Amino acid sequence: MTITKNVLTKTQLTQTTPTKTPLRFCGQAGAIALVALLASPLAWSHGDVTPQPVDIKGLELLGDEWLEENPYREDHPQHELAVDIGARAYNSNCAACHGLEAKSGGIAPDLRELENGAWGDEWYKELVTNGAERNGRVLMPRMSDYVSQEGLWAIRTWLETVSMETTKGQ
Ligand code: HEC
Repeated sequence: MTITKNVLTKTQLTQTTPTKTPLRFCGQAGAIALVALLASPLAWSHGDVTPQPVDIKGLELLGDEWLEENPYREDHPQHELAVDIGARAYNSNCAACHGLEAKSGGIAPDLRELENGAWGDEWYKELVTNGAERNGRVLMPRMSDYVSQEGLWAIRTWLETVSMETTKGQ
């Protein structure tokens, strides 16, 4: 039998601990994963968290190829618009799991802790285009199946305005 290797995300790489039980209940990571497993697919199937199309009218279009870096930063002419669109798009597509105003209620990581700048962009892109999966269970769907690249970079633009780095943890 051959096992074809998928591209591993950082999370998968750090969490690949083959055990007989499907979940390890020790440690915070296990507990959070369990909560996510129990809570998110359920929440996801309810109407109020169904992914919403994002109206990106006015934003520069980016094409099909994913960029490595957020194009809508401060020096972009549509920066302000991206922040507005991103805030709304976050509420309708990410808040159900990641919490209102990006303040995590514990189900999923607190996205205010993402690093600003290119390094944070890379990790953000990795997650939204691959989703997150553990032991064959989807913790986070591949969000790029639901939201356009423009919409997802707009969300990232808004996230940077509320990040710990920007607000100094307030
Ligand atoms: C169904 C619940 C769910 C939805 C909806 C969801 N996420 Fe996630 N997200 C998660 C979980 C759970 C993790 C942690 C995955 C892990 O531990 O491997 C995660 C991880 C992430 C990470 C990595 C965070 C870190 O600190 O490493 C980013 C970035 C992210 N999500 C962005 C988003 C964005 C942007 C959206 C909306 C467009 C979104 N997510 C929608 C559940 C969700």
